[in-house]
Amino acid sequence: MKNTFKVKSEGRDILKTLNVVTGRMLDVNMASAHIARHPDTFNVNRIAKQLHPKSLKLRIKKVDVFSEDVKSYILTSAEGRMLPYFKAGQYLTVELKVGSSVLTRPYSLSSSPRDSLSGEYRITVKRVPAGFASGHILDNWQAGDIITAYPPEGTFGYEPLRDAKTVVGVAGGSGITPFISMAEDIASGDSDFNLILLYGARNTREILFKKELDALADKCDKFKVCYVLSDSTSKKYETGFIGADLIKKYAPADEAYSIFVCGPGPMYKFLQSELPKLGLENKYIRFEMSSGRRDLAIEPGYPKDMLEKTFSLTVIDRGSKYETECNSSDSILCALEKAGIAVQARCRSGECGFCRSKIVSGEYFIPQGVDKRRIADARFGYVHPCCAYPLSDIVIKIN
Ligand code: FES
Repeated sequence: MKNTFKVKSEGRDILKTLNVVTGRMLDVNMASAHIARHPDTFNVNRIAKQLHPKSLKLRIKKVDVFSEDVKSYILTSAEGRMLPYFKAGQYLTVELKVGSSVLTRPYSLSSSPRDSLSGEYRITVKRVPAGFASGHILDNWQAGDIITAYPPEGTFGYEPLRDAKTVVGVAGGSGITPFISMAEDIASGDSDFNLILLYGARNTREILFKKELDALADKCDKFKVCYVLSDSTSKKYETGFIGADLIKKYAPADEAYSIFVCGPGPMYKFLQSELPKLGLENKYIRFEMSSGRRDLAIEPGYPKDMLEKTFSLTVIDRGSKYETECNSSDSILCALEKAGIAVQARCRSGECGFCRSKIVSGEYFIPQGVDKRRIADARFGYVHPCCAYPLSDIVIKIN
């Protein structure tokens, strides 16, 4: 009896579905081909556009100078619009025109997400020796200038479902920026986790935002900061490099914790050999990858006889063909930018996929940990030029 009922009931459901589908097809066929309302007239679309614009025109409201080599820029909308909200730890990508080159650079937001609601972002830029973009920004950007940027993005933030309730933050130099944003977010009650920050600098003069960090630690017991000096000693601070022993000293002894790292390349290299000593699960270790230039000489698996070579780079861009060169120590994206060929790019660390392009021919090297391509992309020769380095002459098709 039961089975008969089930078959009858399922048969009725199928008939009902067929009737609905047929009815809808009739409605579609009889509908006018004209658009009844332009998509922009729907409120939901207008709000979505405002919250997720393709690009932003920002005015530099103020420049805070730490030194000739480190400055903070307070940015507001140049069009009087709301700024997209962001998650503490995310970055803002700015667009630069340097000579004939158009390039983009991601900078972690060093302000609180709440500040975006009152119309302000803050980024902090430190000069990178031999860097292409940081020097241009530090030497040229003035209060009142208008810049182009792309809305905040990035995954270097706290995720309650993945991360432990306590995070040990390891910051080096200007890698402090995403952690200030996180500390502000915790202090204002918008994020609920404990942050123990170990902040490495060469000496006390190189500690950025010290007043701000100390004030946040004073007012919020979920945030603690410890300064670690590598090139000088002080009774008030730890000395040396931030490694497994120092992390163990400050991390909770009897509960799980996550480690977030943001700093220069040599710090990453050192921590990659130190962190396994802590015996943490992989999911509890996060590196912010969008900072810094790579030193291929210390990259595992890189063929050292390829250093200091120059290869030809042939670029196919929607039917046009360009010939240029690529130094082996530059990513293919850098070479394209230096040649004045504009490529969509945001994270510069293989994560966002904006720069995805096809290698038509040639050999390349992708450093460990940044190959985030889909399996099919890797199989069919697509790369993220931001983290692909030439090992031979290259022909590439960009989008
Ligand atoms: S810029 Fe994000 S993957 Fe290349």
